[in-house]
Amino acid sequence: MRIFLPMDSAAKALGAEDVAAALRAAAPEAEIIRTGSRGMIWLEPLVEIEVNGVRHGFGPSDPGDVAAILDGTSAKALGPVEELDWLKRQTRLTFARVGVIDPLSLRDYKAHGGLSGLQRALDMSGQQIVDEVKTSGLRGRGGAGFPTGIKWQTVHDADGPQKYIVCNADEGDSGTFADRMLMEGDPFTLIEGMAIAGIGVGATQGYIYLRSEYPDAIAVMTRAVEIARAAGVLGKDVLGSGKAFDMEIRKGAGAYVCGEETSLLNSLEGKRGVVRAKPPLPALEGFLGRPTVVNNVISLATVPVIFEKGAQHYADFGLGRSRGTVTLQIAGNVARGGLFETAFGITLGEVVNDLGGGTRSGNPVKAVQVGGPLGAYMPVTKFDTPLGYEEFDTAGGLIGHAGLTVFDDTTDMLGMARFAMEFCAVESCGKCTPCRIGAVRGVETIDRIAEGDPAALPLLADLCETMQDGSLCALGGFTPFPVMSAVTQFPDDFARHKEAAE
Ligand SMILES: Cc1cc2nc3c(=O)[nH]c(=O)nc-3n(C[C@H](O)[C@H](O)[C@H](O)COP(=O)(O)O)c2cc1C
Ligand code: SF4
Repeated sequence: MRIFLPMDSAAKALGAEDVAAALRAAAPEAEIIRTGSRGMIWLEPLVEIEVNGVRHGFGPSDPGDVAAILDGTSAKALGPVEELDWLKRQTRLTFARVGVIDPLSLRDYKAHGGLSGLQRALDMSGQQIVDEVKTSGLRGRGGAGFPTGIKWQTVHDADGPQKYIVCNADEGDSGTFADRMLMEGDPFTLIEGMAIAGIGVGATQGYIYLRSEYPDAIAVMTRAVEIARAAGVLGKDVLGSGKAFDMEIRKGAGAYVCGEETSLLNSLEGKRGVVRAKPPLPALEGFLGRPTVVNNVISLATVPVIFEKGAQHYADFGLGRSRGTVTLQIAGNVARGGLFETAFGITLGEVVNDLGGGTRSGNPVKAVQVGGPLGAYMPVTKFDTPLGYEEFDTAGGLIGHAGLTVFDDTTDMLGMARFAMEFCAVESCGKCTPCRIGAVRGVETIDRIAEGDPAALPLLADLCETMQDGSLCALGGFTPFPVMSAVTQFPDDFARHKEAAE
C-alpha cells in the first residue's frame, strides 16, 4: 500500500507528524511517501491512499482518524484528490509537481518532466535562452512584475569575469507562502530554473537567500542541492554539457527589508541589510559589484516549465501584459485558505468568495489586502477587478507576490492603517528620511485622528505624499498604499473614532 502525506511545514504545524506516526504504527507494511502540500490548507494534514493508481484523500486528519482511514470507513474521505474542485480548477504549471512527488527524489522529479527544460536549454545559446524567457512574457513574481527576460538580457550583455544568479527566497510579505511551499515541495524545480538562468546569462554561481524562519525549506533545499550536485545537475559539467553552474544556500536573519534586492545583496555580502541607491542596477553591479540576476523563487521556478513546454505554451495563458499563471496565496479570515495557481484574469471576487468561500467567521467581507503589507486594502466594490498587473494598478492596487489577506466587517480600518505605518517604522532600514522619520510621524498622526484631531487627516495625506515621492525604496514609498486606501475606501472608520472622541 502506498500512502502519501505532506511534510510541508503548514501540514506539520497542523499535526502531520503525529498522523505519520499513527500511520506507521497502524500500517507498518505500507510505504509512506512524504510530499509537499497540495495547497488545500484547510484539509491538512491530508492523507492520500493510492488505490489502483488513483490517490484518494482524507482530511483534515488526526491520529484518531487513522484506523478508519485504513479500513475504508472514514467520514473524512474526500474521494479522488485530483477530482476535488480546488485542484481541478487550477492551471498548475509552476506547482505541477508540488504535493504529488517526493520532493527529494530526483527520479520522481524526472519521471514528472523534471530536467527536460534544462536539457533543452543546454542545446541553446545564451541569447536563445534569454529570448525564450522574453517570449514567455514571464514577469517577476517577487513584487514589481518586471519582465524577467529583459533583466536577464542586461546581465547577459554585461561584461565581467564573474556573474551571479541570486534567488530571493526572503518571502517577507504577510500572508504569503508560495516560495516556501515550492521549496519544500519541489526544490529541484528551483535548482533547474537557476541553472537555466546561469547558463543563459553566463553566470556560474548562484545563491539562494533564504530566511531563517523557514527551517524546513532550508533543510529540503540544502539536501536537494547536495543530491543535484552528486547527480551532475550542478557542478563544473552540468548534465555532461561542459557548462558549469553551482549554488549555495545562504541564511538571512529575517528582516523584511532584506527582501528588497539591494538590501538582500548587502546582507549576502555580510553587510548590514541597508538599501543601496539605484543606479547602479544589480543587473550591472550586484553581488560583490558583479552583474547579478536577482529573481524571486516563483519567477525562477517557473523557468523549467517554460523550457519544457515552450515559451508560447506559457504565454498562451493570461490576460493583457500579465502572461502565464499567478500563484495566489489566500489567507486571513477566509473559509478555505491555501495556494491556488491559475491563469491571470480571474477576478478578486471569484478568488475570495468562490475559491475562498468567504470569511471563516461567516461575517461579510470588508476588505482584502492584496500584495502583502505594502498592498492596498481592496473593498468589496472592487471585487470585479481581474488579477493582472496593469488592471490592479488601474484599480489603485498591486498584485505584488500575490498574497491575499481577507478581513471581515469587524475590522477597524483605522487600526489597519496604523498597523501599516507601524510596520514601516519597525522594518525601515533607516537610510532615507521620509521613511525613517515619516513612518514614526505617521503612527503619531493616525493616533491623533483616533483622538478626534480635525487637522490630522489632511496632515496624514500630506505625509503619505512625501513618503510616496521621496522614499528611496518601496518600503517607505508604498506604505501610503495601505494607509490611504484605508482612509479613502473606509472613511467611516476614521470618522467613527472622531465621533467617539467627541
Ligand atoms: C521592502 C521590500 C521587500 C521585498 N521583499 C521581497 C521578498 O521577500 N521576496 C522577493 O522575491 N522580492 C521582494 N521584494 C522585491 C525585490 O526587491 C525584487 O524586486 C525581486 O526580488 C526581483 O525578483 P523578480 O523580478 O523575480 O520579482 C521586496 C521589495 C521591497 C521594496
Ligand atoms: S524607504 Fe525605508 S527601507 Fe527603503 S531605503 Fe528608505 S529608509 Fe530604507
